[in-house]
Amino acid sequence: MQKLLPSLLILIGSLLIASADISTPIIGVLTQEVYTGGLISRHFDNKTSYIAASYVKYLEGAGARVVPIWIGRNRSYYEDLMHKINGVLLPGGATWFNQSNGYADAGEHLIQLAIEQNDQGIFMPVWGTCLGMELLVYKLANGTEHRIDCQGKGIALPMEFKEDYNKSRLFASISDDVVTTMIKENVTYHWHQYCYTEKDFERDLLNETWRVISLNRDLNGKEFISTMEHKKYPFYGVQFHPEKPMYEFTKTSIPHTAAAVISGQFFADFFVSEARKSYQSFENATEQARTLIYNYKPEYTSILGSSYIQQYLFTNAEMEIPEIPDEGGDGDGGSSGPYIPIIETGGGSSTILPLFSVLLLTLLIVSIN
Ligand SMILES: *[C@@H]1O[C@H](CO)[C@@H](O)[C@H](O)[C@H]1NC(C)=O
Ligand SMILES: *[C@@H]1O[C@H](CO)[C@@H](O)[C@H](O)[C@H]1NC(C)=O
Ligand SMILES: *[C@@H]1O[C@H](CO)[C@@H](O)[C@H](O)[C@H]1NC(C)=O
Ligand SMILES: *[C@@H]1O[C@H](CO)[C@@H](O)[C@H](O)[C@H]1NC(C)=O
Ligand SMILES: *[C@@H]1O[C@H](CO)[C@@H](O)[C@H](O)[C@H]1NC(C)=O
Ligand SMILES: *[C@@H]1O[C@H](CO)[C@@H](O)[C@H](O)[C@H]1NC(C)=O
Ligand SMILES: *[C@@H]1O[C@H](CO)[C@@H](O)[C@H](O)[C@H]1NC(C)=O
Ligand SMILES: *[C@@H]1O[C@H](CO)[C@@H](O)[C@H](O)[C@H]1NC(C)=O
Repeated sequence: MQKLLPSLLILIGSLLIASADISTPIIGVLTQEVYTGGLISRHFDNKTSYIAASYVKYLEGAGARVVPIWIGRNRSYYEDLMHKINGVLLPGGATWFNQSNGYADAGEHLIQLAIEQNDQGIFMPVWGTCLGMELLVYKLANGTEHRIDCQGKGIALPMEFKEDYNKSRLFASISDDVVTTMIKENVTYHWHQYCYTEKDFERDLLNETWRVISLNRDLNGKEFISTMEHKKYPFYGVQFHPEKPMYEFTKTSIPHTAAAVISGQFFADFFVSEARKSYQSFENATEQARTLIYNYKPEYTSILGSSYIQQYLFTNAEMEIPEIPDEGGDGDGGSSGPYIPIIETGGGSSTILPLFSVLLLTLLIVSIN
């Protein structure tokens, strides 16, 4: 028994470290090109890409942390990052898929890499919201266009589940209460000019690889696919915006009822749980700290007329990965470069934790005095 105890402690310790790694997954959110001549470029100099802050809050509100994924990089950048993060969110927005070096090209790398990783047995979930869902389908169909025009701007709709919706992974463990709420109330918020139809999926056999889970009708009564998941890969798509009921307040048509918020939270919780199944991590705490979204500040853009309350805006210079210092921990590391927060990871925490304890102790002594 006495011999067993140390090894038991080591076992418990390593289990704790392992579970600590997956309980707070880090999800990459793809940036998107700023529209030239649009609101952002009129108000902010040199900002070339953005992330609507609602997507960041949406993931954070479910326990994840966020890393921005830059557009306009080469393959090796995406390849490297995809071995460090635990999932990818492709947000909605407004770009053409034929625009080069932007959202669509970066998304193509990410989707291809996610396919490769999943094929190799490395779990890598991808979530597409609105344009992100459209991109997922487009890229998995080898760049063939299946979208049609849709009148789906500014409508709140209930979920219209297909009969076998609970055979999906996405809804396998949803509670009956939440389903009832989703069916009865206008919980999903739509803002899209394109959509996919089930007929089209069947005609071109996209139904062989995608499971259509819910359908809705646009303002003209046209039926379109509103929720889907890939049959083989952990890829999910929603045509609506689950983040908006919780985090966007710029249009009166966005539902903010308790039902809409519970519903949006369901999707966030689901995807973050998927990301918890990934065991990848950054090489060390410094690299992770330098990469997280906390290095950037969102702007209050709705006050300027944007349909996003807040946006993270990036210049080309900011999209360069910040330089990694020799070793943090020695004072504040000078005045150049962003502040490095104290964080814990499986590997890097050992050097940082003692420093943290000393700091806490100092604070304690100071406050006692
Ligand atoms: C934008 O870029 C130009 C040219 O590089 C530079 O002169 C200017 O200071 C930049 N503006 C801001 C706000 O960074
Ligand atoms: C990719 O870009 C990085 C800089 O962002 C550069 O260091 C690297 O050499 C490039 N790789 C290739 C294969 O071009
Ligand atoms: C990209 O696609 C849009 C919409 O189909 C079209 O209007 C635009 O001309 C295209 N641009 C290029 C460079 O092909
Ligand atoms: C896309 O291309 C791949 C590889 O060539 C092929 O296996 C797949 O069936 C194609 N998918 C579609 C929807 O055309
Ligand atoms: C799915 O729903 C059907 C009909 O509501 C029900 O009979 C069935 O038990 C459910 N299956 C699962 C796996 O929950
Ligand atoms: C949902 O929206 C439709 C159309 O605006 C409306 O007729 C209906 O009453 C709403 N349902 C609920 C439960 O609020
Ligand atoms: C897909 O649609 C085609 C055409 O309707 C049908 O023959 C096939 O069985 C469907 N596949 C699945 C998996 O539902
Ligand atoms: C952390 O990882 C980065 C990127 O691989 C590396 O450049 C750096 O030297 C590492 N720092 C420490 C303290 O190990």
